[in-house]
Amino acid sequence: MSTTHASDAFVFFGATGDLANKKIFPALYAMVRRGGLNIPIIVLARAGWTLDKLKERARSSVEAAGDFDPESFDKLASLMRYADGDYSDPATYSNLKRALGLAQRPVHYLAIPPSMFSTVAQGLANAGCAQGARVIVEKPFGRDLASAQALDATLHEVFPETSIFRIDHYLGKEAVQNLLYFRFANTFLEPIWNRNYVKDVQITMAEKFGVEGRGAFYDEVGAIRDVVQNHLLQVIALLAMDCPVSHETRAVQAEKLRLFRAMRPLNPAEVVRGQFRGYRDEKGVAKDSDVETFAALRLHIDTWRWADVPFYIRTGKSLPISATEVIVNLKKPPLAIFHADAAMPTNFFRFRLSPEVVISAGALVKRNGENMRGEPVELVARHRSTREKTPYERLLGDAIRGDAQLFTQDDSVEAAWHVVDPVLENPLPVVEYEPGTWGPDAATDIVDGAEVWHDPQVEQTQPC
Ligand code: BG6
Repeated sequence: MSTTHASDAFVFFGATGDLANKKIFPALYAMVRRGGLNIPIIVLARAGWTLDKLKERARSSVEAAGDFDPESFDKLASLMRYADGDYSDPATYSNLKRALGLAQRPVHYLAIPPSMFSTVAQGLANAGCAQGARVIVEKPFGRDLASAQALDATLHEVFPETSIFRIDHYLGKEAVQNLLYFRFANTFLEPIWNRNYVKDVQITMAEKFGVEGRGAFYDEVGAIRDVVQNHLLQVIALLAMDCPVSHETRAVQAEKLRLFRAMRPLNPAEVVRGQFRGYRDEKGVAKDSDVETFAALRLHIDTWRWADVPFYIRTGKSLPISATEVIVNLKKPPLAIFHADAAMPTNFFRFRLSPEVVISAGALVKRNGENMRGEPVELVARHRSTREKTPYERLLGDAIRGDAQLFTQDDSVEAAWHVVDPVLENPLPVVEYEPGTWGPDAATDIVDGAEVWHDPQVEQTQPC
């Protein structure tokens, strides 16, 4: 069967969890509201739930997300069906089969712990619910390379790779897609987008909040597994890959895979792991936890284009601001014929990925007056603070339509684990940092020599 057919039922595993509450019900509602979702939504939950209770839950989740339209919600509620049962009980899948009715091409969305993937996939297969179906799986996809490979093997027993949609919600962000577009829809970047002109690349994903009640989950994961192996390496792949031969899914995936494979496995000596003071008092966190809530690291990409250009990654919870920003710093002009001011930035490109979408270029212009002195300016190509669709609305809609472009594949996910595995296996101890700061002092040593981390600020540029 073609992999691009549209699904005719959406089966929701894990509908009573936190992710469902915060993101998935609002995304399904938004799809219904735009007229983009009109198939049965079969919600699975353990005994004790009822369809009415689930609808209530969906309603409060949509209301909490804001912008509630009762008519659209009623439409969403009318699409919902309920099948109960334990995931390890074969009867659950018979219930599901019954609830699917005439649907031939369901999409199964697994917002459940990866340890349950195998049981659910086999249950679906045994009950005949996997035939012609696709499956959407949530991150984290494994804990390391070996467990990701085991998960892939498990899923492949039931679903071909073309029917597996691995979510990395960063890929559903407008700003992240713009990295690909901006790079390859323009001519002026390509000649300078390499080791001859680029000094370094920095990406900071800062979050002002802590673990927000997710302590038990987070303490099993840590920042490197939670956001570096997936979101941030995906962003780097889009920034650093070569131009695909077309925008066709397989062409883009092939170039990304080449890039992932050229990333050198991290050297633990080039990684600083931090933990904010107070983390160990969070509910669900071990009193002697060595899990990092902050990571700063230097990544190398061994290609002709990027040899010797450091890619710096920094992320953390309880930092001074919530913002994700990429800075591509260019080298100095070969000769300083004007007054050289060390405080002046070199040219750079800035891609702010959240909360606003900004693409800009940093330049120097002459200050008014008789002296040939300069001042920094930013040429803003795009600044938007509003979003079209949330990443989940976009991604679930794509999966239902069978468009795999914004999903990750087995080989690239495994290649990304290969990059971070050395730090997971052999980490240096975490260093404590004060909440509300930019992490441990040791993070400054990650950037080379006179270089400094660029700290994202509250956005000043005006929307255009
Ligand atoms: C998730 C992580 O994948 O991404 C969270 O598990 C993190 O810890 C979140 O806060 C950040 O995503 P966004 O889209 O809110 O910036």
